Amino acid sequence: MKFIPNNIEKYCIEQSQKDSKLLNNLTDYTKKNVEGSEMLCGPLVGGVLQGIACMIQAKKILEIGTYTGYSALKMAEVLPSDGTIDTCELGENHCQTARKFFKKSPYNESIKIHMGKALESIDKFSDNYFDMIFIDADKTNYVNYYKKSLNLVKKGGVIVLDNMLWSGSVIQPNDDQSKSLRNAGDFINNDIKCLNFLMPIRDGLMICIKK
Ligand SMILES: C[S@@+](CC[C@H](N)C(=O)[O-])C[C@H]1O[C@@H](n2cnc3c(N)ncnc32)[C@H](O)[C@@H]1O
Repeated sequence: MKFIPNNIEKYCIEQSQKDSKLLNNLTDYTKKNVEGSEMLCGPLVGGVLQGIACMIQAKKILEIGTYTGYSALKMAEVLPSDGTIDTCELGENHCQTARKFFKKSPYNESIKIHMGKALESIDKFSDNYFDMIFIDADKTNYVNYYKKSLNLVKKGGVIVLDNMLWSGSVIQPNDDQSKSLRNAGDFINNDIKCLNFLMPIRDGLMICIKK
């Protein structure tokens, strides 16, 4: 389900800062060659991620779910020169594609890919280390990613979760992914440790600020 009419979404994208040439190339390559290109978060969500990273002057960002590297590269564009992105991905082929594009960018040294199950990869990080965390991997683990992220992010830091509307199916969830996302939404909304709000941008973006 599209929450914003196509012409309005197109206008919003046109009225926002454009994707770089490399991001356009990555998007084209992914659409032509990689299965599941609808998983790219795209320029609207990417713009929000960049905006948040700028507003909080993020230096250390964790991403759960690299895919072909779009969102990691998008966030890297606004990092200060000593900023870092740690991004977690299960699929070796996706890691290879993402690495190929990171190498073409000026941010290759700033982005580290952690291949494997994200729930295990993120255990190596220290509490209160990250300024910002973007959660965009397997939906059935969202509540687990959120719980771990809340420890990993600093006070005042931001956790962003994509697909929190899951095409609207979270309203009456009847499959595992919808039920998990609804459960994650309810858990976050009842968690006094963060200030949260859900925005109907693309497939639903939940923003959580750690108190
Ligand atoms: C929605 S895509 C990420 C899209 C990316 N953030 C972007 O905007 O381009 C989700 C990714 O999570 C990966 N993934 C799924 N389960 C995972 C797990 N348990 N650990 C790490 N990555 C996982 C998938 O292989 C897929 O590439």
